[in-house]
Amino acid sequence: MSRVRMIHHINIQITDRERTKEWYEKVLGAEFLDRGPALNKRQLQLRIGTGEIHTSDVSEFIVVPSVHFAIEVEDWEGTLEHMDAMGVDCSRSAGGAFTGTGGDDPKQGKREDTNEHYTYINDPDGNIIELVYHPLGLEDSQGKNLDLTSDLQNVRWTQIPGFVETAYKGEPVQSA
Ligand SMILES: [Fe+2]
Repeated sequence: MSRVRMIHHINIQITDRERTKEWYEKVLGAEFLDRGPALNKRQLQLRIGTGEIHTSDVSEFIVVPSVHFAIEVEDWEGTLEHMDAMGVDCSRSAGGAFTGTGGDDPKQGKREDTNEHYTYINDPDGNIIELVYHPLGLEDSQGKNLDLTSDLQNVRWTQIPGFVETAYKGEPVQSA
């Protein structure tokens, strides 16, 4: 069996594409993944860190208690300050969905094994996002410390050269 390399994207329910795009750009530094008009119409996609967020348009958001995704951030205190400045509430219990571990601070917690710092926020639709920070870093199977990415911006999967420009002109695109 081929080995899995990484989780490529998560897919979330959304009710308003423009609101979602703006919120993820401002709050989490996501970038709109422009794939040309036809593909953009199918789905909103955002690049975030080393992954992508794809979306499913729904007329009504269906709440699934405690279901969430987590993203690793680079600067913990800076992230909490940024959330505060953006008016985004941080909660150790995700507003009561989780209880009991990680200390007494209602805004954030720490895990016993990795000293992972964590907190939970909600996007405008109510998707729960866990923010995590690992002060001990990431290591490979030999215990060697790994730098996840040295790119200051979000990384991206390579698109076929000229695809988006051609798509906007309404011309058929040759696939690789
Ligand atoms: Fe989690």
